[in-house]
Amino acid sequence: MSNTDEIKSKLDIVDVINEYVKLQQAGQNWKGLCPFHNEKTPSFMVSQERQFWHCFGCGEGGDIFTFIMKIEGIEFKEALKILAKKAGVELQSINPQTATLKNKLIDINELAKKFYIYFLNNSKEGLKAKEYLKKRKIQEKTIQNFSIGYAPNSWDKLLTFLKSKKYSLKDIFDAGLIVKRKTNDGYYDRFRGRLIFPINNIHGQTVAFSARALNKEDSAKYINSPQSLIYNKSVILYGLDKAKQEIRKKKSVILVEGQMDLISLHQNGYQNTVAVSGTALTQEQINILKRYTDNLILAYDADIAGQNAVKKGINLAIASEMNVKIISLPPGKDPDELISQDPQKWKGIFQKKLSVLDYYFKEAFEKYSPETIEGKKNISKFLLPVIKRIPDPIEQDYYLEKLSNLIKINEETLKNVLKQTKISDFHIQKEKDKAIIKNKKIIKPE
Ligand code: UTP
Ligand code: MN
Repeated sequence: MSNTDEIKSKLDIVDVINEYVKLQQAGQNWKGLCPFHNEKTPSFMVSQERQFWHCFGCGEGGDIFTFIMKIEGIEFKEALKILAKKAGVELQSINPQTATLKNKLIDINELAKKFYIYFLNNSKEGLKAKEYLKKRKIQEKTIQNFSIGYAPNSWDKLLTFLKSKKYSLKDIFDAGLIVKRKTNDGYYDRFRGRLIFPINNIHGQTVAFSARALNKEDSAKYINSPQSLIYNKSVILYGLDKAKQEIRKKKSVILVEGQMDLISLHQNGYQNTVAVSGTALTQEQINILKRYTDNLILAYDADIAGQNAVKKGINLAIASEMNVKIISLPPGKDPDELISQDPQKWKGIFQKKLSVLDYYFKEAFEKYSPETIEGKKNISKFLLPVIKRIPDPIEQDYYLEKLSNLIKINEETLKNVLKQTKISDFHIQKEKDKAIIKNKKIIKPE
């Protein structure tokens, strides 16, 4: 049996596609929203019997291989590798000299991951890193689950190791693991004396690293792999490879800002969590999440940067027709700190997730006093644009009345002000708001 036939015999197309598209049974077949064109009613069909997919909207179709090639934007060879791993089919071993570049870079990162795991568990320095993890309440099985490692404090230990495995300097450099010296032609290890968090793609292949300092004197708290052929920061979501099944099961995804937040939440039973690595959430990431669920729960830090990121996230997610809820953390706390110090308190706050409107109300009343005239004006100025963008008139009225009661201003007066309010009066990103208006057809552009 050929490799492809063996893989096909071991995998069910419905399971494979279900990881990307929410499929529902429809008679003999399965159907869902086509991931290759925009549509509101499902015309994407999967036949379990024939192990074939077809979209009646855009006319695309094929088998599991063409599906993976198309949705991941990759060549057949790479799709073969991914599906072989999934099916547990052993392909003939790939020689570093002939492997495609992407596969080679992944192999290098996978090897580096093993190197870092080895040093965490088998060196004196690693012992200190382990103590640090213990102090942060990361359990042994979590360390293993997330393949956490330690980069020895040396200029070239990793480089020497990878060279001994016959990888070229150029490939090691392209994999993001070494840095070119400024003064001469040499290279040195990018990560030194740091805790290592491997960053995986959706298939669980390691494509990058984030490295945390263990000493306060270190220049940056985290150092990350650069963008590369295999690592696109605006597409990858940390932890999605481990979270995807659970996101489906729980029908929601929790989004956090940092690796440590994600690891703590997974350890405490919230395995439907993914993380952006301190960068802004992108449209691409939203599109990926929407393959799994429409329900997004934002659990960002309570600091100003975190809260600005929440607002941008809300706008982007609403524009993509996601349902957004927000976890409002106490000042100065991030999800990791809260859940590792007081899991019950986290649970309470998590259960009290706020709707977008309730989140903005909370913020407005924390910022301004409803007792002073100035405060009443500021609160209205802050909230009316958000109330204006509520598409449902009953819900809009509900929040208007709530505002009226809280600041003790006549609802009719507020209604009149609302008429003159523009949605774009609010928000950090005006461009995004325009997109929302267009997308949702809430009001006509003025
Ligand atoms: P935070 O500063 O909130 O760190 O940055 P954290 O997640 O709470 O980390 P701990 O708990 O102190 O270990 C959030 C994310 O931003 C990125 C990292 O991905 C981090 O997880 N970041 C932060 C960087 O890339 N570089 C930095 O210097 C700091
Ligand atoms: Mn933290």
